[in-house]
Amino acid sequence: MDVTPTWPQIPRHTAARPAGHVDLEYGHGKLILAPMVRCGTLPMRMLALSEGADIVFSPETIDRRLARSKRVLNVVANTTDFVDLDDGSINLRLHAEEKSKLVVQIGSSDPENAVKAALAVADDCSGIDLNCGCPKKFSIVSAMGAALLSQPDRLCGILTALVENVPLPITAKIRMLETPEKTIELVQRIEKTGVSAITLHCRLRSERPQDPGHWDIFERVAQSIKIPLIANGDIYSMEDVERLKKIAPSVSSFMLARAPESNFSIFNPLIQKTPSEAIIAYAKAAVTYDMVFHNCKYVLMQMWPASQKKTNRRSKKGKPQNIGVVKSQDEDGTDDSVVAPVLPPILSLARTKSYQELCEVVPGLREVLDKCEAERLERSERLGREDLIRKDVVAELGPDCPYLPNEDIMHRVKRNSDGQVTGKEEVDGEADVARKKLRESVEDDK
Ligand SMILES: Cc1cc2nc3c(=O)[nH]c(=O)nc-3n(C[C@H](O)[C@H](O)[C@H](O)COP(=O)(O)O)c2cc1C
Repeated sequence: MDVTPTWPQIPRHTAARPAGHVDLEYGHGKLILAPMVRCGTLPMRMLALSEGADIVFSPETIDRRLARSKRVLNVVANTTDFVDLDDGSINLRLHAEEKSKLVVQIGSSDPENAVKAALAVADDCSGIDLNCGCPKKFSIVSAMGAALLSQPDRLCGILTALVENVPLPITAKIRMLETPEKTIELVQRIEKTGVSAITLHCRLRSERPQDPGHWDIFERVAQSIKIPLIANGDIYSMEDVERLKKIAPSVSSFMLARAPESNFSIFNPLIQKTPSEAIIAYAKAAVTYDMVFHNCKYVLMQMWPASQKKTNRRSKKGKPQNIGVVKSQDEDGTDDSVVAPVLPPILSLARTKSYQELCEVVPGLREVLDKCEAERLERSERLGREDLIRKDVVAELGPDCPYLPNEDIMHRVKRNSDGQVTGKEEVDGEADVARKKLRESVEDDK
Protein backbone atom coordinates (compact mmCIF):
# COMPACT_ATOMS: atom_id res chain seq x y z
CA MET A 1 0.00 0.00 0.00
CA ASP A 2 1.30 3.45 -0.91
CA VAL A 3 1.43 5.51 2.27
CA THR A 4 3.16 8.52 0.77
CA PRO A 5 1.16 11.57 1.84
CA THR A 6 -0.18 13.63 -1.04
CA TRP A 7 0.61 16.84 0.83
CA PRO A 8 3.32 17.75 3.35
CA GLN A 9 2.35 16.81 6.88
CA ILE A 10 4.71 19.33 8.44
CA PRO A 11 4.95 22.83 7.05
CA ARG A 12 8.35 24.04 5.90
CA HIS A 13 8.69 26.21 8.94
CA THR A 14 6.50 26.54 12.02
CA ALA A 15 7.15 29.27 14.56
CA ALA A 16 9.09 27.77 17.49
CA ARG A 17 7.25 27.36 20.80
CA PRO A 18 8.81 28.16 24.18
CA ALA A 19 10.16 25.13 26.04
CA GLY A 20 7.40 23.15 27.71
CA HIS A 21 4.64 24.81 25.71
CA VAL A 22 1.74 22.50 24.81
CA ASP A 23 -0.45 23.57 21.89
CA LEU A 24 -4.18 23.92 22.36
CA GLU A 25 -5.90 20.70 21.22
CA TYR A 26 -8.87 21.22 18.86
CA GLY A 27 -9.90 17.58 18.37
CA HIS A 28 -11.71 14.95 20.46
CA GLY A 29 -15.23 16.35 20.69
CA LYS A 30 -14.51 19.84 22.00
CA LEU A 31 -17.47 22.16 22.60
CA ILE A 32 -16.52 25.60 21.39
CA LEU A 33 -18.01 29.07 21.84
CA ALA A 34 -18.03 30.64 18.34
CA PRO A 35 -16.56 34.06 17.61
CA MET A 36 -19.37 36.61 17.91
CA VAL A 37 -18.93 40.33 17.45
CA ARG A 38 -20.51 42.18 20.39
CA CYS A 39 -21.81 38.97 22.05
CA GLY A 40 -18.61 36.99 22.51
CA THR A 41 -16.93 39.56 24.73
CA LEU A 42 -15.31 38.73 28.07
CA PRO A 43 -18.45 38.15 30.22
CA MET A 44 -19.92 35.67 27.71
CA ARG A 45 -16.61 33.83 27.35
CA MET A 46 -16.08 33.51 31.10
CA LEU A 47 -19.65 32.28 31.60
CA ALA A 48 -19.34 29.77 28.74
CA LEU A 49 -16.12 28.42 30.29
CA SER A 50 -17.73 28.20 33.72
CA GLU A 51 -20.52 26.08 32.18
CA GLY A 52 -18.13 23.66 30.49
CA ALA A 53 -17.13 25.10 27.11
CA ASP A 54 -13.73 23.64 26.18
CA ILE A 55 -12.55 26.52 23.98
CA VAL A 56 -13.80 30.09 23.54
CA PHE A 57 -13.22 32.34 20.53
CA SER A 58 -13.03 36.11 20.84
CA PRO A 59 -15.12 38.26 18.51
CA GLU A 60 -13.36 39.18 15.27
CA THR A 61 -10.98 42.10 15.71
CA ILE A 62 -9.57 43.76 12.61
CA ASP A 63 -5.80 43.30 12.33
CA ARG A 64 -4.92 47.01 12.04
CA ARG A 65 -7.03 47.93 15.07
CA LEU A 66 -5.28 45.26 17.12
CA ALA A 67 -1.83 46.13 15.85
CA ARG A 68 -2.28 49.81 16.75
CA SER A 69 -3.69 49.00 20.22
CA LYS A 70 -1.78 49.48 23.40
CA ARG A 71 -1.77 46.50 25.75
CA VAL A 72 -2.76 47.78 29.17
CA LEU A 73 -2.85 45.76 32.36
CA ASN A 74 -6.02 47.19 33.84
CA VAL A 75 -5.40 46.80 37.55
CA VAL A 76 -8.75 48.36 38.38
CA ALA A 77 -10.90 45.93 36.41
CA ASN A 78 -8.32 43.11 36.67
CA THR A 79 -8.24 42.60 32.91
CA THR A 80 -5.83 42.96 30.01
CA ASP A 81 -7.12 45.64 27.65
CA PHE A 82 -6.09 46.38 24.09
CA VAL A 83 -6.81 50.10 23.96
CA ASP A 84 -7.24 51.86 20.63
CA LEU A 85 -4.81 54.75 20.49
CA ASP A 86 -7.12 56.61 18.11
CA ASP A 87 -10.13 57.04 20.38
CA GLY A 88 -9.41 55.33 23.70
CA SER A 89 -11.98 52.60 23.08
CA ILE A 90 -11.17 49.06 24.13
CA ASN A 91 -10.69 46.86 21.06
CA LEU A 92 -10.32 43.69 23.05
CA ARG A 93 -10.61 42.90 26.76
CA LEU A 94 -9.10 39.62 27.94
CA HIS A 95 -8.68 37.89 31.29
CA ALA A 96 -5.76 35.82 32.51
CA GLU A 97 -8.14 33.04 33.59
CA GLU A 98 -9.36 32.39 30.06
CA LYS A 99 -5.91 32.38 28.45
CA SER A 100 -5.40 28.59 28.24
CA LYS A 101 -8.71 28.15 26.36
CA LEU A 102 -8.89 31.38 24.42
CA VAL A 103 -8.53 31.74 20.66
CA VAL A 104 -8.38 35.31 19.33
CA GLN A 105 -10.00 35.72 15.94
CA ILE A 106 -8.63 38.33 13.59
CA GLY A 107 -9.97 39.81 10.37
CA SER A 108 -7.26 40.42 7.81
CA SER A 109 -6.47 40.72 4.13
CA ASP A 110 -2.73 41.05 4.50
CA PRO A 111 -0.08 38.66 5.87
CA GLU A 112 2.07 41.36 7.47
CA ASN A 113 -0.81 43.05 9.29
CA ALA A 114 -2.18 39.68 10.37
CA VAL A 115 1.15 38.69 11.92
CA LYS A 116 1.49 42.07 13.69
CA ALA A 117 -2.00 41.70 15.15
CA ALA A 118 -1.45 38.09 16.21
CA LEU A 119 1.87 38.88 17.90
CA ALA A 120 0.21 41.75 19.77
CA VAL A 121 -2.08 39.28 21.58
CA ALA A 122 0.07 36.14 21.50
CA ASP A 123 1.03 36.37 25.18
CA ASP A 124 -2.59 36.51 26.28
CA CYS A 125 -4.25 33.67 24.35
CA SER A 126 -3.64 30.12 23.16
CA GLY A 127 -4.57 30.30 19.50
CA ILE A 128 -5.15 32.62 16.57
CA ASP A 129 -8.02 32.19 14.13
CA LEU A 130 -8.43 33.87 10.75
CA ASN A 131 -11.99 34.89 9.83
CA CYS A 132 -12.61 33.65 6.28
CA GLY A 133 -16.40 33.59 6.41
CA CYS A 134 -17.83 37.00 7.33
CA PRO A 135 -20.15 38.05 4.45
CA LYS A 136 -20.73 41.59 5.80
CA LYS A 137 -20.05 44.45 3.42
CA PHE A 138 -17.29 46.02 5.52
CA SER A 139 -15.35 42.74 5.37
CA ILE A 140 -15.88 42.11 1.68
CA VAL A 141 -14.90 45.61 0.51
CA SER A 142 -11.67 45.29 2.51
CA ALA A 143 -10.94 41.87 0.99
CA MET A 144 -11.38 40.20 4.39
CA GLY A 145 -13.75 37.52 5.72
CA ALA A 146 -15.69 35.65 3.03
CA ALA A 147 -13.86 37.63 0.31
CA LEU A 148 -10.86 35.40 1.07
CA LEU A 149 -12.83 32.35 -0.05
CA SER A 150 -12.57 33.52 -3.64
CA GLN A 151 -8.89 34.47 -3.23
CA PRO A 152 -7.31 31.24 -1.97
CA ASP A 153 -3.76 32.48 -2.71
CA ARG A 154 -4.25 35.48 -0.46
CA LEU A 155 -6.03 33.36 2.17
CA CYS A 156 -3.27 30.76 2.26
CA GLY A 157 -0.60 33.48 2.17
CA ILE A 158 -1.99 34.97 5.38
CA LEU A 159 -2.26 31.57 7.06
CA THR A 160 1.28 30.60 6.05
CA ALA A 161 2.65 33.88 7.43
CA LEU A 162 0.80 33.29 10.70
CA VAL A 163 1.98 29.67 10.99
CA GLU A 164 5.59 30.67 10.32
CA ASN A 165 5.75 33.69 12.60
CA VAL A 166 3.32 33.23 15.50
CA PRO A 167 4.24 30.74 18.23
CA LEU A 168 0.67 29.51 18.65
CA PRO A 169 -1.62 27.12 16.77
CA ILE A 170 -3.32 28.86 13.84
CA THR A 171 -6.82 28.01 12.60
CA ALA A 172 -9.18 29.22 9.88
CA LYS A 173 -12.97 29.60 9.97
CA ILE A 174 -14.53 29.27 6.53
CA ARG A 175 -17.92 28.87 4.88
CA MET A 176 -18.88 26.27 2.28
CA LEU A 177 -18.18 26.90 -1.39
CA GLU A 178 -20.76 26.18 -4.12
CA THR A 179 -19.96 22.45 -4.29
CA PRO A 180 -18.51 19.90 -1.86
CA GLU A 181 -15.66 19.33 -4.35
CA LYS A 182 -14.66 23.02 -4.31
CA THR A 183 -14.93 23.07 -0.51
CA ILE A 184 -12.71 20.00 -0.25
CA GLU A 185 -10.16 21.52 -2.62
CA LEU A 186 -10.04 24.64 -0.45
CA VAL A 187 -9.72 22.86 2.91
CA GLN A 188 -6.93 20.70 1.51
CA ARG A 189 -5.05 23.81 0.39
CA ILE A 190 -5.61 25.39 3.78
CA GLU A 191 -4.37 22.25 5.53
CA LYS A 192 -1.08 22.48 3.62
CA THR A 193 -0.34 25.86 5.20
CA GLY A 194 0.23 24.07 8.52
CA VAL A 195 -2.90 25.22 10.37
CA SER A 196 -3.99 23.14 13.35
CA ALA A 197 -7.71 22.93 12.58
CA ILE A 198 -10.40 24.29 10.27
CA THR A 199 -13.89 25.39 11.27
CA LEU A 200 -16.52 24.92 8.58
CA HIS A 201 -19.71 26.99 8.87
CA CYS A 202 -22.12 24.91 6.79
CA ARG A 203 -23.63 27.79 4.83
CA LEU A 204 -22.75 29.44 1.54
CA ARG A 205 -21.50 33.01 1.56
CA SER A 206 -24.84 34.04 0.00
CA GLU A 207 -26.95 32.30 2.65
CA ARG A 208 -28.39 34.12 5.66
CA PRO A 209 -28.45 32.82 9.25
CA GLN A 210 -32.14 31.86 8.93
CA ASP A 211 -31.44 29.60 5.93
CA PRO A 212 -31.01 25.98 7.06
CA GLY A 213 -27.38 24.84 7.40
CA HIS A 214 -26.10 21.92 5.31
CA TRP A 215 -24.96 19.29 7.78
CA ASP A 216 -24.61 16.82 4.91
CA ILE A 217 -21.34 18.47 3.83
CA PHE A 218 -19.44 17.78 7.06
CA GLU A 219 -18.54 14.09 6.72
CA ARG A 220 -16.97 14.34 3.25
CA VAL A 221 -14.97 17.42 4.17
CA ALA A 222 -13.81 15.96 7.49
CA GLN A 223 -12.65 12.80 5.73
CA SER A 224 -10.67 14.81 3.20
CA ILE A 225 -8.21 16.28 5.73
CA LYS A 226 -6.06 14.94 8.56
CA ILE A 227 -6.33 17.91 10.91
CA PRO A 228 -9.50 18.37 13.04
CA LEU A 229 -12.59 19.72 11.31
CA ILE A 230 -14.78 21.77 13.64
CA ALA A 231 -18.45 21.74 12.61
CA ASN A 232 -20.44 24.96 12.91
CA GLY A 233 -24.02 25.84 11.99
CA ASP A 234 -27.43 25.15 13.50
CA ILE A 235 -26.23 23.30 16.61
CA TYR A 236 -28.72 24.32 19.28
CA SER A 237 -28.46 21.59 21.91
CA MET A 238 -26.38 18.68 23.14
CA GLU A 239 -28.92 16.44 21.38
CA ASP A 240 -27.95 18.20 18.14
CA VAL A 241 -24.29 17.45 18.89
CA GLU A 242 -25.14 13.76 19.34
CA ARG A 243 -27.19 13.74 16.12
CA LEU A 244 -24.37 15.40 14.21
CA LYS A 245 -21.84 12.89 15.57
CA LYS A 246 -23.95 10.12 14.00
CA ILE A 247 -24.35 11.94 10.67
CA ALA A 248 -20.69 13.00 10.50
CA PRO A 249 -18.55 10.71 12.69
CA SER A 250 -15.29 12.13 11.24
CA VAL A 251 -16.02 15.63 12.55
CA SER A 252 -13.72 16.38 15.48
CA SER A 253 -15.39 19.19 17.42
CA PHE A 254 -18.45 21.41 17.56
CA MET A 255 -18.79 25.19 17.54
CA LEU A 256 -21.96 26.99 18.68
CA ALA A 257 -22.94 30.64 18.25
CA ARG A 258 -26.63 31.57 18.46
CA ALA A 259 -27.46 28.90 21.06
CA PRO A 260 -25.02 30.28 23.67
CA GLU A 261 -25.89 33.81 22.57
CA SER A 262 -29.41 33.07 23.90
CA ASN A 263 -28.30 31.01 26.87
CA PHE A 264 -24.62 30.30 27.58
CA SER A 265 -25.52 27.37 29.89
CA ILE A 266 -26.06 25.29 26.72
CA PHE A 267 -22.50 24.09 27.42
CA ASN A 268 -23.54 22.51 30.71
CA PRO A 269 -24.45 18.87 30.05
CA LEU A 270 -26.24 18.48 33.39
CA ILE A 271 -28.22 21.57 34.38
CA GLN A 272 -29.18 24.44 32.13
CA LYS A 273 -30.28 27.83 33.35
CA THR A 274 -33.74 29.21 32.66
CA PRO A 275 -33.72 32.29 30.41
CA SER A 276 -34.16 34.61 33.40
CA GLU A 277 -31.38 32.92 35.39
CA ALA A 278 -29.04 33.22 32.40
CA ILE A 279 -29.91 36.90 31.95
CA ILE A 280 -29.26 37.70 35.59
CA ALA A 281 -25.96 35.81 35.54
CA TYR A 282 -24.90 37.62 32.35
CA ALA A 283 -25.72 41.06 33.76
CA LYS A 284 -23.71 40.28 36.90
CA ALA A 285 -20.75 39.08 34.84
CA ALA A 286 -20.91 42.21 32.67
CA VAL A 287 -20.69 44.34 35.82
CA THR A 288 -17.91 42.17 37.25
CA TYR A 289 -15.78 42.53 34.10
CA ASP A 290 -16.67 46.22 33.70
CA MET A 291 -18.20 45.68 30.29
CA VAL A 292 -19.18 48.84 28.41
CA PHE A 293 -22.87 49.30 29.24
CA HIS A 294 -24.26 49.51 25.71
CA ASN A 295 -22.56 46.21 24.86
CA CYS A 296 -24.06 44.51 27.89
CA LYS A 297 -27.50 45.90 26.98
CA TYR A 298 -27.18 44.62 23.41
CA VAL A 299 -26.46 41.09 24.63
CA LEU A 300 -29.30 41.20 27.14
CA MET A 301 -31.68 42.28 24.36
CA GLN A 302 -30.69 39.12 22.45
CA MET A 303 -31.10 36.94 25.54
CA TRP A 304 -34.46 38.31 26.70
CA PRO A 305 -37.04 35.49 26.47
CA ALA A 306 -39.19 35.54 23.32
CA SER A 307 -42.34 35.40 25.43
CA GLN A 308 -41.33 38.64 27.15
CA LYS A 309 -40.82 40.28 23.77
CA LYS A 310 -44.34 39.18 22.78
CA THR A 311 -45.70 40.48 26.07
CA ASN A 312 -44.07 43.78 25.28
CA ARG A 313 -45.53 43.96 21.79
CA ARG A 314 -49.02 43.33 23.15
CA SER A 315 -48.68 46.04 25.82
CA LYS A 316 -50.66 49.09 24.72
CA LYS A 317 -49.70 51.30 27.58
CA GLY A 318 -46.03 50.74 26.82
CA LYS A 319 -45.15 51.24 30.46
CA PRO A 320 -42.56 48.96 32.00
CA GLN A 321 -44.14 46.69 34.55
CA ASN A 322 -42.64 45.94 37.92
CA ILE A 323 -40.40 42.98 38.38
CA GLY A 324 -42.53 40.10 39.61
CA VAL A 325 -45.77 41.19 37.94
CA VAL A 326 -45.24 39.70 34.50
CA LYS A 327 -44.92 35.97 34.31
CA SER A 328 -42.10 34.53 32.28
CA GLN A 329 -43.11 31.70 29.97
CA ASP A 330 -40.99 29.42 27.90
CA GLU A 331 -41.58 29.08 24.15
CA ASP A 332 -43.59 25.92 24.73
CA GLY A 333 -45.94 27.79 27.04
CA THR A 334 -44.76 26.21 30.29
CA ASP A 335 -44.59 28.64 33.15
CA ASP A 336 -41.09 28.88 34.65
CA SER A 337 -41.92 31.73 37.02
CA VAL A 338 -42.34 29.33 39.95
CA VAL A 339 -38.68 28.36 39.99
CA ALA A 340 -37.02 31.23 38.12
CA PRO A 341 -36.81 34.93 38.92
CA VAL A 342 -39.31 36.89 36.86
CA LEU A 343 -38.26 39.62 34.47
CA PRO A 344 -40.25 42.63 33.28
CA PRO A 345 -41.06 43.18 29.57
CA ILE A 346 -38.17 43.99 27.29
CA LEU A 347 -39.31 47.62 27.01
CA SER A 348 -38.00 48.20 30.54
CA LEU A 349 -34.60 46.97 29.42
CA ALA A 350 -34.73 49.00 26.22
CA ARG A 351 -35.16 52.19 28.28
CA THR A 352 -32.08 51.69 30.45
CA LYS A 353 -29.08 53.91 29.83
CA SER A 354 -26.69 52.84 32.56
CA TYR A 355 -25.92 50.00 34.92
CA GLN A 356 -27.63 51.97 37.68
CA GLU A 357 -30.86 51.90 35.65
CA LEU A 358 -30.35 48.26 34.76
CA CYS A 359 -30.46 47.46 38.50
CA GLU A 360 -34.16 48.42 38.40
CA VAL A 361 -34.75 45.74 35.77
CA VAL A 362 -32.47 42.86 36.72
CA PRO A 363 -33.08 41.33 40.16
CA GLY A 364 -30.02 41.14 42.40
CA LEU A 365 -27.81 43.31 40.21
CA ARG A 366 -27.66 46.27 42.60
CA GLU A 367 -25.66 44.30 45.20
CA VAL A 368 -23.08 43.21 42.63
CA LEU A 369 -22.78 46.70 41.12
CA ASP A 370 -22.35 48.35 44.53
CA LYS A 371 -19.73 45.79 45.55
CA CYS A 372 -17.77 46.06 42.29
CA GLU A 373 -17.88 49.84 42.26
CA ALA A 374 -16.71 50.01 45.87
CA GLU A 375 -13.86 47.60 45.17
CA ARG A 376 -12.75 49.47 42.06
CA LEU A 377 -12.93 52.82 43.79
CA GLU A 378 -10.96 51.46 46.71
CA ARG A 379 -8.34 50.01 44.38
CA SER A 380 -8.18 53.18 42.36
CA GLU A 381 -7.87 55.38 45.44
CA ARG A 382 -5.22 53.13 46.93
CA LEU A 383 -3.20 53.33 43.76
CA GLY A 384 -3.81 57.06 43.53
CA ARG A 385 -1.04 58.73 41.62
CA GLU A 386 0.67 55.38 41.43
CA ASP A 387 -2.30 54.04 39.43
CA LEU A 388 -0.58 51.70 37.03
CA ILE A 389 -3.00 52.35 34.20
CA ARG A 390 -2.42 56.06 34.23
CA LYS A 391 1.28 55.83 35.01
CA ASP A 392 1.97 53.34 32.28
CA VAL A 393 -0.23 54.82 29.60
CA VAL A 394 0.27 58.50 30.39
CA ALA A 395 4.02 58.02 30.38
CA GLU A 396 3.82 56.76 26.84
CA LEU A 397 1.06 58.92 25.47
CA GLY A 398 1.41 62.14 27.40
CA PRO A 399 -1.44 64.16 28.97
CA ASP A 400 -3.78 63.45 26.02
CA CYS A 401 -3.87 59.80 27.00
CA PRO A 402 -7.22 58.58 25.76
CA TYR A 403 -7.66 55.77 28.25
CA LEU A 404 -10.11 56.63 31.05
CA PRO A 405 -10.88 59.89 29.26
CA ASN A 406 -11.53 62.99 31.33
CA GLU A 407 -14.30 64.31 29.11
CA ASP A 408 -17.59 62.72 28.14
CA ILE A 409 -16.84 64.01 24.69
CA MET A 410 -13.95 62.05 23.25
CA HIS A 411 -12.02 62.66 20.09
CA ARG A 412 -11.67 60.04 17.42
CA VAL A 413 -8.87 60.31 14.95
CA LYS A 414 -10.09 60.38 11.34
CA ARG A 415 -8.08 58.40 8.79
CA ASN A 416 -8.20 58.26 5.03
CA SER A 417 -8.38 54.98 3.11
CA ASP A 418 -4.58 54.64 3.33
CA GLY A 419 -4.74 54.81 7.11
CA GLN A 420 -3.17 58.29 7.31
CA VAL A 421 -4.47 60.63 10.03
CA THR A 422 -6.47 63.49 8.48
CA GLY A 423 -8.02 65.15 11.53
CA LYS A 424 -10.13 64.66 14.65
CA GLU A 425 -13.88 64.44 15.22
CA GLU A 426 -15.94 64.53 18.40
CA VAL A 427 -17.70 61.36 19.45
CA ASP A 428 -19.90 60.58 22.45
CA GLY A 429 -17.92 59.27 25.35
CA GLU A 430 -19.05 56.37 27.51
CA ALA A 431 -21.72 57.40 29.98
CA ASP A 432 -20.89 54.44 32.11
CA VAL A 433 -21.47 55.43 35.71
CA ALA A 434 -18.75 53.31 37.26
CA ARG A 435 -16.19 54.63 34.81
CA LYS A 436 -17.30 58.20 35.53
CA LYS A 437 -16.90 57.71 39.25
CA LEU A 438 -13.53 56.18 38.67
CA ARG A 439 -12.44 59.15 36.62
CA GLU A 440 -13.66 61.54 39.30
CA SER A 441 -11.77 59.69 41.99
CA VAL A 442 -8.60 59.76 39.91
CA GLU A 443 -9.12 63.49 39.34
CA ASP A 444 -9.64 64.02 43.10
CA ASP A 445 -6.34 62.36 43.77
CA LYS A 446 -4.44 64.74 41.54
C1 LIG B 1 -24.06 38.06 16.90
C2 LIG B 1 -23.14 37.27 16.00
C3 LIG B 1 -21.86 37.73 15.77
C4 LIG B 1 -20.98 36.98 14.96
N1 LIG B 1 -19.70 37.39 14.82
C5 LIG B 1 -18.81 36.59 14.17
C6 LIG B 1 -17.43 36.89 14.17
O1 LIG B 1 -16.96 37.85 14.79
N2 LIG B 1 -16.59 36.06 13.48
C7 LIG B 1 -17.05 34.94 12.81
O2 LIG B 1 -16.24 34.21 12.22
N3 LIG B 1 -18.35 34.62 12.83
C8 LIG B 1 -19.23 35.40 13.50
N4 LIG B 1 -20.54 35.04 13.56
C9 LIG B 1 -20.97 33.77 12.93
C10 LIG B 1 -20.93 32.64 13.97
O3 LIG B 1 -19.63 32.46 14.52
C11 LIG B 1 -21.40 31.32 13.36
O4 LIG B 1 -20.55 30.96 12.31
C12 LIG B 1 -22.84 31.38 12.82
O5 LIG B 1 -23.70 32.09 13.67
C13 LIG B 1 -23.39 29.95 12.64
O6 LIG B 1 -23.41 29.27 13.88
P1 LIG B 1 -24.80 29.02 14.68
O7 LIG B 1 -25.74 28.35 13.74
O8 LIG B 1 -24.41 28.16 15.86
O9 LIG B 1 -25.33 30.35 15.08
C14 LIG B 1 -21.44 35.77 14.35
C15 LIG B 1 -22.74 35.34 14.58
C16 LIG B 1 -23.58 36.05 15.41
C17 LIG B 1 -24.98 35.53 15.67
